Amino acid sequence: MTSIRDIPDALIAALRDARHVCVLTGAGVSAESGVPTFREAQDGLWAKYRAEELATPEAFLADPVLIWRWYRWRRELVAEAQPNSGHLAIAKLADRVPRFTLVTQNVDNLHQRAGSSNVIEFHGNIFEDRCFADGSLQAGDDGTAVPTCSECGGNLRPGVVWFGEAIPERALNESCAAAADCDLFLSIGTSSLVYPAAGLADLAKQNGAMVAEINPNPTMNAARFDFSLAGNSGVILPELLNSLSL
Ligand code: OAD
Repeated sequence: MTSIRDIPDALIAALRDARHVCVLTGAGVSAESGVPTFREAQDGLWAKYRAEELATPEAFLADPVLIWRWYRWRRELVAEAQPNSGHLAIAKLADRVPRFTLVTQNVDNLHQRAGSSNVIEFHGNIFEDRCFADGSLQAGDDGTAVPTCSECGGNLRPGVVWFGEAIPERALNESCAAAADCDLFLSIGTSSLVYPAAGLADLAKQNGAMVAEINPNPTMNAARFDFSLAGNSGVILPELLNSLSL
């Protein structure tokens, strides 16, 4: 069990003195809610597929029915999940520092359900439906095999960023600006394998921020960070939040 004594004093001091804290989260922050991380094997019906094979425009064009079935399965799984103590601590942390930016690679909406606002969704949101042709946000999924756009009649797609697709411009610009401006950057529950999200920590570091990661499995970036806290975010984040009250 991580206790306050395991968190470096310099990190606690940096959090206390921070003018602007920027947090990047990945699938690991939702792991304690029972949502499989991106690179964990899928189970049951979907065990024969790798997420990387399904989350692409090509896979959708080849078999939109299959892709909609996959995303409906994921929507149900995520809708049943509850925000965990890590999500809740992040939401509370935002109220304890002068300026706070939350960037998430997750599409599961759990940060919002935990009370976080102004969440920058780097990879979209699984509960949004968009027109496949022009990406415009559309009304909800009508439950048909492949829902259609009310404006153009073409296929709808889940509102998530697929492999090979660009990050939404506003999300990218706001995330980079926050990383460059912050004085403390926390990389939480991400393998730091996928760019440009993984580059945000470097951008923060280059601009003078202290950078720490929270991950039970220290990542390749850990050597470049000021601190790497090896543990579950649902345990460490509440302790980090508590350190502000001491
Ligand atoms: P990954 O599945 O690559 O990495 C999840 C990370 O969470 C791993 O490093 C785990 O060690 C860590 N982890 C597991 N349990 C944890 C816990 N309780 N607390 C903290 N960390 C924990 O997921 P991401 O890094 O989010 O992009 O993947 C980044 C992107 O890769 C995804 O957003 C997705 C994929 O390509 C798109 O879909 C575009």
